[in-house]
Amino acid sequence: MTLMKKFYIETYGCQMNVYDSQLVKRILMDHGWDETQDFHQADLILVNTCAVRENAEQRVRGRLGLFKTVKRDRPTVKVGLLGCMGQRLKEQLIEEENVLDFVMGPDTYRRLPVVLDELHNGIKNKIVDVKLDKTEMYDDVLPERDDQTRVTTFVTITRGCDNMCAFCIVPFTRGRERSKDPRLIIQEIEDALKQGYKEVMLLGQNVDKYHYQDVNFARLLDMVASIDPQMRVRFLTSYPQDLKNEVLEVMAGHENIARNIHLPVQSGSNRILELMRRGYTREWYLDRIKAIREIVPDCAIGTDIIAGFCTETEEDHQQTMDLMDKVQFDYAYMFKYSERPNTYAARNLPDDVPEETKIRRLNEIIELQNRHSYQSNQRDVGKIHQVLVEKTSHRSEKQLLGRNSQGKVIIFEADKSLIGQYVDVEVYDFTQATLLGRLKK
Ligand code: 5AD
Ligand code: SF4
Repeated sequence: MTLMKKFYIETYGCQMNVYDSQLVKRILMDHGWDETQDFHQADLILVNTCAVRENAEQRVRGRLGLFKTVKRDRPTVKVGLLGCMGQRLKEQLIEEENVLDFVMGPDTYRRLPVVLDELHNGIKNKIVDVKLDKTEMYDDVLPERDDQTRVTTFVTITRGCDNMCAFCIVPFTRGRERSKDPRLIIQEIEDALKQGYKEVMLLGQNVDKYHYQDVNFARLLDMVASIDPQMRVRFLTSYPQDLKNEVLEVMAGHENIARNIHLPVQSGSNRILELMRRGYTREWYLDRIKAIREIVPDCAIGTDIIAGFCTETEEDHQQTMDLMDKVQFDYAYMFKYSERPNTYAARNLPDDVPEETKIRRLNEIIELQNRHSYQSNQRDVGKIHQVLVEKTSHRSEKQLLGRNSQGKVIIFEADKSLIGQYVDVEVYDFTQATLLGRLKK
């Protein structure tokens, strides 16, 4: 009997990276590798990375420092860096982080077995394989779904991004926008359903740009929601410029499409939106919010906001806070601007908002959002929510954790056997991040 070689993988960044790591796992497992959760046991250590903000990269560099000590003790272990940071820094990473044996980008994972062979056979000592490929969709690779609870699965429907927002590194790290064949998307979802999954999350940098022959996002969403009315469908991320009423109407027509739209606004100031090259105005954005509220009235709306983008004044910042007041987002991810090399902003605009000002504005935005999130939670109290149960809560085996259609986490007492099922829960209270409820049936 030969012992299987073991790999360990760590994933940073967005859901698309989580999905990509599942593809990587499948590719390795198909080539005789086995996964371990303990890097001390691993023959191969992989880090799938994010480059969206500088601190995301710093965290990865910190981890590489730890893996260096592992390699000092066991020089045969190979260490590879995957994902957006690899795509961005290429050879530079090999030079700066001598722990690394190889660097790969999001479009080259199918060559992983070849790369490992070349390193193993000593054909090469260090490898950088980062070519972007505008057609790569990993069509014939099914993800190795590793969610223990078997409730939610991801399907990437578009890769890359053509938007070229001034602040964003993604078009450089993930390449041109492309869409997956809808028949393969459906096959993949049916495969997940067979494994017992109950919820699918469709992923793309801008799902509204999905198109494959005559199938646009609205049509795809309709097709996916029709597979099984018991399967809940989520999608991420929407783009204000491209979000069509047609998509909202499909949502309204299917109860199993989750009532949640993530619609990053980034700023509430038209001057800043233009500098960001977002392609919409605050008036346009507010009109999209109005359309969501009219067509899908029970829909939760979330956003992303950047504080302290190039040349942002106090007046611009107030415009962002004013827009937040007008929309009353249910939740938001809020960041301070981090200049990314080679982006349009890095090349053409001054990163001139002082650090203390960025921090102060970010804190003001967070504080305002906390108030809005509190009010959003308050509106949920006393109502009955349909919850898809995901797992036991980390606090107690007797408590279950699930999400309502709006995507909010609800904790309630009930038996573990309900995991994977829909149950009705009455919410009676909440903490900052979770609703607290009682099982109704
Ligand atoms: N600085 C700060 N935040 C950024 N984001 C993207 N690029 C940057 C950057 N350079 C944020 C945006 C985006 C989210 C995924 O990350 O808000 O929507
Ligand atoms: Fe990070 Fe963006 Fe890459 Fe996702 S696509 S891993 S958020 S840089």
